[in-house]
Amino acid sequence: MDKTSVVDEMRDSAAEKTPSPSYAFVDYCAVETPGPRGLVIFGASGDLTARKLMPSLYRLFAKGLLPNAFFVLGTSRSEMDDAGFRASMADAVRDAAPGVFEEAQWSRFAERLHYTAMRYEDDADFRKGLRERLQELERKFDTQGNRIFYLAVPPQVFSPVIENLGASGLSREERGCSHLVVEKPFGRDLESARELNRRIHRHFRENQIFRIDHYLAKETVQNLLMFRFANTIFEPLWNQRYVDHVQITAAETLGIGSRAGYYEQAGVLRDMFQNHMLQLLCLTAMEPPSAFIADRVRDEKAKVLRSLRRPDPASLEGTLALGQYGRGRIDGAAAAAYREEPGVAPDSLTPTYAAMTLFIDNWRWNGVPFYLRSGKGLASRRTEIAVHFKSVPFSMFPDSVEGPIASNVLVLGIQPGEGMSLTFQTKQPGSRICLNPVEMSFSYPKGVSLDAYEWVLLDCMLGDHMLFMREDSIELAWSILTPVLEAVSGGRGPRLSVYPAGSEGPAEAGRLFGASGRRWRPL
Ligand code: BG6
Repeated sequence: MDKTSVVDEMRDSAAEKTPSPSYAFVDYCAVETPGPRGLVIFGASGDLTARKLMPSLYRLFAKGLLPNAFFVLGTSRSEMDDAGFRASMADAVRDAAPGVFEEAQWSRFAERLHYTAMRYEDDADFRKGLRERLQELERKFDTQGNRIFYLAVPPQVFSPVIENLGASGLSREERGCSHLVVEKPFGRDLESARELNRRIHRHFRENQIFRIDHYLAKETVQNLLMFRFANTIFEPLWNQRYVDHVQITAAETLGIGSRAGYYEQAGVLRDMFQNHMLQLLCLTAMEPPSAFIADRVRDEKAKVLRSLRRPDPASLEGTLALGQYGRGRIDGAAAAAYREEPGVAPDSLTPTYAAMTLFIDNWRWNGVPFYLRSGKGLASRRTEIAVHFKSVPFSMFPDSVEGPIASNVLVLGIQPGEGMSLTFQTKQPGSRICLNPVEMSFSYPKGVSLDAYEWVLLDCMLGDHMLFMREDSIELAWSILTPVLEAVSGGRGPRLSVYPAGSEGPAEAGRLFGASGRRWRPL
């Protein structure tokens, strides 16, 4: 089947399976509410369910965004009954959403929560236990056979769950939709991601699959497309004629906490670059899609990934810097080194910081460096995209104006401070010729709208793929990172520098700018 017919098939099938929309109002905006749905969570006794999924579902319920015909069926290996599950979820939501939790409302929500213990490797548990419980709940809540299977389990469990969903017939769309939601990490290199895609596709079609990158659901990341393509004044400047370089930063103050088991295997390149960082780059650099629909947007993002110049694994010194946090101080308190965190090997070489230069070989971006950096245990928590414009071609001002005229910088703040700002030069009042850089800014009021997981859950119930990763993008992103990861693990990457926790990261990251005179924006 060619690409167009695949896309048509996807659209037709989505239209068939999705009942007609209804809407609720959140912050004066109409938000579409899904039709009847049953949500099965694999990994219901785990951390992700307690910290993100259940609080988000409860908030959606409180905002009137869940359908009336809705239930959750939690599953995991732990033995528990419905009452035990409801009690542990109440504690989790009280902790994660203290201002929103309200006893009477919780009781109404909790009536929809159910639990069944199962073994993921056992096909009988799927064919009998899960299937029968699901059918019973579908009758009770009248969800018309519309099912969502959410994999909130460690990646080594993805395969048995997917195989057994297929073998038990639960992946088939008979009466309603059957959607599969897959959390990251999606593979650990190109080959394992391809294998996972092949495995999923044995039982699910692409339009049934929702691969999560929660960064895409953040308010300001979604706003990037509106900002670029609903205004005329920025787009003419958005290219190599006017842009000097772009800096994309995702800095965190926190260390790895209790996630050593996962992080020691992943490191920052797999954890943040393969997904979030490359997605931010795609949204910044992509061409205008022909329509604001999921596949048109995802086509344009895939084109950016195809145009990215592959970093040469033989000479990474000039394009990649790696670091690991040592002991230091964060927010005035002593912070342990990465190698001292529980579960981390005392001689671990896992990078917790990376900075990388990438080039996009196309007409729009030829020669413009995109500098990406992300790390843990840094001086501040900040995620932003900063577009640095070129300097004025010639300064007509006398030598008495100090130094070169600073160029304009447009900053798209993703978190904390969600909003944007533009710096430009003005005349300092009073003195005759004295330039004064000023900032024009817009910020979103705190607490409006939905958080990233609320959007993700809502959209997979609505069957909207806009915020999810398509098969081709996942594999393209891995095709860029895999040779780099192999060079690093083979000892052919740059030296791993230790930086003090609470600092700006390793000084080596400055090496990426060479003699250009550019510098990282302070954290
Ligand atoms: C996750 C990474 O995907 O994103 C974490 O696995 C990271 O290591 C987190 O801390 C950052 O997300 P956010 O939304 O807190 O910026």
